[in-house]
Amino acid sequence: MNVTVRGHRQACRTVDFDAATNTVRLIEQRLLPHRFVILSSTDYQKTACAIRDMVVRGAPAIAATAAYGLAQGARAFRGRDLARFTAHLERVRTTLEAARPTAVDPVNALRQVLQAMREGRTVAQQQDLALAAARAFADASVAHCEAIGRHGLPLIQDGTRVLTHCNAGWLACVDVGTATAPLYAAQAAGRQFHVFCDETRPRCQGASLTAWELAHQGVSHHVLADNAAGHLMQRGEIDLVIVGSDRVLGRTGHVANKIGTYTKAVLAHRHRLPFYVAIPLSTLDWELRDGSEIPIEERSEDEVLGAWGAVATPGLRSSASTSASTSRPGRPAYVRIANPSSHARNPGFDVTPPELITGIITPVGIFKPRELWRQRQRLGGPA
Ligand code: MRU
Repeated sequence: MNVTVRGHRQACRTVDFDAATNTVRLIEQRLLPHRFVILSSTDYQKTACAIRDMVVRGAPAIAATAAYGLAQGARAFRGRDLARFTAHLERVRTTLEAARPTAVDPVNALRQVLQAMREGRTVAQQQDLALAAARAFADASVAHCEAIGRHGLPLIQDGTRVLTHCNAGWLACVDVGTATAPLYAAQAAGRQFHVFCDETRPRCQGASLTAWELAHQGVSHHVLADNAAGHLMQRGEIDLVIVGSDRVLGRTGHVANKIGTYTKAVLAHRHRLPFYVAIPLSTLDWELRDGSEIPIEERSEDEVLGAWGAVATPGLRSSASTSASTSRPGRPAYVRIANPSSHARNPGFDVTPPELITGIITPVGIFKPRELWRQRQRLGGPA
């Protein structure tokens, strides 16, 4: 998508790779919306840390990062011994895969890259194939999001008011986004609509990332406190919910997504509002047989007990203002919110059962969650 940095509008992908320096290039999402910085990760361990520490986040984006991280690790290997190369690759794969457990997209991406590498007979051939496969995965991910936009477009009419949760936009993907794809398609079609972004505590991806994206693309929106959606639904101020996902079970239609998604699905059901989940094919898990088997990431309690923001630096001139007395919102800071002696639980994701979901918007069409298994051939699933 296009971003304006220091007055220059430029096209930018969330995740990219520089072959000359063997670096993975990532938008540093922890600094948004206050600063736009591209981070270069110079080895696969750092790339895994960038995933774990949420420099990059969102299932399709961490999948592309893992794919590039595997290529990066493969290309860093020196020597011609295939057995040693294979053992090295296994270390790279497990390091990247372990970075975040809930999303299945990295697992699928790593599998695809390794599969493509098997065609190579030498270390050098496999290194070249790894990068080609990682690039192909990233490009396919963008194409999937564009196709989601085409299939989801009819859902967004003039006047539609959409609720979304967390960030399932282009920052969570390589480009375009999943939940945002129908919105951007509707914008391109000249439709007027409004988006409510759930704040999405504890990391506030809705308030910081989705709102930043929508503002940059000129989409009308409001940020909502996480508990406000029910009230707006009750008053008839929301028409539709679209979210992304970290793992959709192809066998059952269970959907894992950011904590709070299930609550919104229950509310939408209570108010008879359509609830859609938008996914690229990499988000489909054809193996697990029940939603309770999905590994749910439990993150640090610090995320719940406090919050991050940007602290105004007194006396510095704002780049957006001519007033010398204006403060620059710049220095990232963590503030403690909760009672000092209290501890917290912090499950990062929850699972929404299929009966609460109106449809899964995929690159090949919109399906009922329980239709996925029957449609598995079209969705790239098992025979
Ligand atoms: O913890 P995060 O920020 O990685 O969680 C992201 C989400 O839950 C997204 O909704 C999901 O990955 C889908 S992104 C298209």
